[in-house]
Amino acid sequence: MEIQRLRLVLIPPPFQGHLTPMLQLATILHSKGFAISVAHAHFNYPDPSHHPNFCFLPLFYGLSDTHISSNNVVDITATLNTNCVSPIKELLVDQIQKANINHEKIACVIYDGLMYSIDSVARELKLPSIVLRTTSATNFLTYHAFVQRQSSGCLPLQDSMSSDLVPELEPLRFKDLPMFNSGEMQKQVAKTIAVRPSLGVICNTVDCLEEESLYRLHQVYKVSFFPIGPLHLLAEEDSSSSSFVEEDYSCIGWLKNQPRESVLYVSLGSIASWEEKELTEVAWGLANSKQKFLWVIRPGTIGDVSEWLQLLPEDVRVAIAERGCIVKWAPQGEVLAHQAVGGFWSHCGWNSTLESLCEGVPIMCQPHFGDQGVNARLLSHVWKIGLEWSTVMERGAIEGAVRRLMVNPEGKEMRQRALKLKNEIKIAVKGGSSYAALNGLVKSILSVNI
Ligand code: UDX
Repeated sequence: MEIQRLRLVLIPPPFQGHLTPMLQLATILHSKGFAISVAHAHFNYPDPSHHPNFCFLPLFYGLSDTHISSNNVVDITATLNTNCVSPIKELLVDQIQKANINHEKIACVIYDGLMYSIDSVARELKLPSIVLRTTSATNFLTYHAFVQRQSSGCLPLQDSMSSDLVPELEPLRFKDLPMFNSGEMQKQVAKTIAVRPSLGVICNTVDCLEEESLYRLHQVYKVSFFPIGPLHLLAEEDSSSSSFVEEDYSCIGWLKNQPRESVLYVSLGSIASWEEKELTEVAWGLANSKQKFLWVIRPGTIGDVSEWLQLLPEDVRVAIAERGCIVKWAPQGEVLAHQAVGGFWSHCGWNSTLESLCEGVPIMCQPHFGDQGVNARLLSHVWKIGLEWSTVMERGAIEGAVRRLMVNPEGKEMRQRALKLKNEIKIAVKGGSSYAALNGLVKSILSVNI
């Protein structure tokens, strides 16, 4: 039978921060000539009309409504890796049969690093496999360090308060590391790093940002690494949104009327949030800083935003009306690219970090959990475009940090360094290291399918 087309099956978990990079990867690989199928859950699913060239495959991820609403990533990960094995096997077998009928071949299954149980399914079905890691290479390295310490009895690795450097992970400090403090979490980490995809690992990163970590990962992991990030830049021709929440474009109109680099963009991504008391301190701190700001308050963060605003003192309300803009969800890519934006107060999720780096916007770092402490340390200590501050949720501390980033010389220096990095990343994508890694990846998929 003559094979006319190679098809890739991509399997992301149903989380915003993971689905977005997977769809970007799908766009990139489609532009290289592959046919694309993307599995999705019955919730948090992408809008197929935004991706007319892809085939979307409903998949039962084995999660109950209680799991879905719990926001407990460890529990969700454990459950889906147990429950989705049979549905994924069925889906892949079905895809192989359909491919045969259509003169296609399933060239590779590409799955997110969280979905480690697919490793054995791909092996059993003799399908080439690749893992997509959506966090930084440095964060992935912390998993190895953890498991190594665990096996040599050097635990605990973590002391969330300690500013001592972790010898094998310098310049990370113990307090920057993701917390693997429950037995279940430790099990998940060990399973994640035990995965050996036959073709290697795609990292959404850039060589110039994480060269040392990528080198070290290659040494310990002994599979190919393809640092082809930032995926959103490589997927540039596809500007369609994969947001679960509708983006409010009115803020772009508001930004148009603001002076160059005058606005602080405030957003904690799709999971982290502040409690009501903290939100009030943020409102005070922003108001007292006398800076302009665009603030994302996600639905569900607080009951009714306008009612909450009414409870604030008049001075703060006036400051928000005069200098602020509040939205439920912003078109973040466009916001960060806007010339009016001069800084980003971020939780340092990896997607937000990369998006800010690509636009030359310095960050006021407030990591909340998981990989965010690692990203914040890279931003402030390695790339020196991130402001480390006390992160005490008190109006005076907030005002001080905002002014350091937006007004003080140290903020200006960070902005200059950020612009330099922006250029280096652009070069990596347009013919440099990311471009070369992408060609290497395509070659590698083709080499096992001819
Ligand atoms: C999660 C984890 O929390 C994070 O630590 C990990 O690195 C990735 O997975 P999330 O918290 O959502 O991600 O943060 P982030 O990685 O920054 O992703 C948020 C995405 O939502 C970004 O692509 C950003 O552009 C988008 N976003 C956010 C919007 O489009 N509009 C908004 O208003 C806010």
